[in-house]
Amino acid sequence: MDTQALLLNANIEKVNANVLQMLSKRGRDIFFPKLGILAQAAQAKGKSINATIGEAFEDDGMSMHLPEFDLLVNMPTANIFPYAPSFGKPELRALWKESIYRKNSSLKDTIISNPIATNGLTHGLSMAGYMFIGEGDTILLSNHYWENYNLIFENNYGAKVETFELFANGGFNMVDFSKKLNSIMTEKIVILLNFPNNPSGYTPVKSEIKEIISEIKMVADKGKKVVVIIDDAYFGLVYEDNVFTESIFVELANLSENVLALKLDGPTKEDYVWGFRVGFITYAIKGGTVELYEALENKTAGAVRGTISNISQLSQSLLYKVYSAPTYEQSKKAKYDVLKTRYTVLRNALSKQEYAEYFSPLPFNSGYFMCIELKKGLAAEDIRKHLLEKYSTGVIVLGNVIRLAFSAVPQIKLPELVENIYKACIDLDK
Ligand SMILES: Cc1ncc(COP(=O)(O)O)c(C=O)c1O
Repeated sequence: MDTQALLLNANIEKVNANVLQMLSKRGRDIFFPKLGILAQAAQAKGKSINATIGEAFEDDGMSMHLPEFDLLVNMPTANIFPYAPSFGKPELRALWKESIYRKNSSLKDTIISNPIATNGLTHGLSMAGYMFIGEGDTILLSNHYWENYNLIFENNYGAKVETFELFANGGFNMVDFSKKLNSIMTEKIVILLNFPNNPSGYTPVKSEIKEIISEIKMVADKGKKVVVIIDDAYFGLVYEDNVFTESIFVELANLSENVLALKLDGPTKEDYVWGFRVGFITYAIKGGTVELYEALENKTAGAVRGTISNISQLSQSLLYKVYSAPTYEQSKKAKYDVLKTRYTVLRNALSKQEYAEYFSPLPFNSGYFMCIELKKGLAAEDIRKHLLEKYSTGVIVLGNVIRLAFSAVPQIKLPELVENIYKACIDLDK
């Protein structure tokens, strides 16, 4: 193992040896190179002749670039063309960290790591897999989950996906969560929690969050090393009172020296910049110190460097500018209001009595989506095809539930969407 990795591992072990046990083999081996090209380039910074960097500069020291770009982007060239650091742009990381505390006030003064920038949440999840999941490790998810988790965790890292039933009696299925959690026999347990959930649009209510935390605490108290990956892609899009509006990260960050919380978040869905490809990964564990977090940050940045090198300079610069704009909060609220209105309109549309004969909604209260479950033995895939052919309506089928992305449908068309599903059910109920 490289001596730089050995040093990071020793720093982790000094603060909390459990974290070292949680790392995968890849996670233990990785490091962000402080020697070699990067170190030599850093030492040459500001010298009168600098022949170290693998970028091109004009004679006046500006980034070399094609003039056509000047008409398109109104920012200094240094914020557009150069590579960004593998850790992410420092000013954006600082701003994002501050925003995690602001949006999750229960964190108070809990020490968390600095966020490491990732290429959207997908890449953040993959980096979490890189660091913590090895061949044959089990990852526990709800049975309603984003299908890309299979590619990320199973295909990339050889994990075994185990699921618990998300719902019972119109709410979170604590019994099955507890049963599945306690059935994992290995010393290390990896759990993935995604609220607001894709596809169901469910976020647990406050009392359920407390119970989920207490279940995790119980296994940690028995000595299990628990890694909780928190997919906060739809953070902030909660539409009902009584639902937990902060990230479950706040409850895990200081829970136990046996529980490492990984918060995966980013502007993709929250700030409506799907194609920008910026996300973040942030760590917290009870008793975590700057030294421990620096070691994890270094390892994560090393994993980023070894996979995609770094995240778009331009995207990070644009986000930093928008986050610093005085109108940002107001503009964001206006978009939230649009989604919340769609949520309300869809909920009302679904409440028509006659629909109950053919389908009923799964619990939903947040996010971009909701799901309906069909009755009378109707096959979701047949309904989907019929909707496309006869009613010019597209929906997603997952297993035998239909997912509706109300985020993508104008408010005025939402009642028609539900009515079309109803008509398709009547057509096929023969
Ligand atoms: C639950 C969940 N996590 C992560 C992502 C991916 O986010 P990103 O586009 O930032 O990679 C999605 C996208 O659909 C998602 O639904």
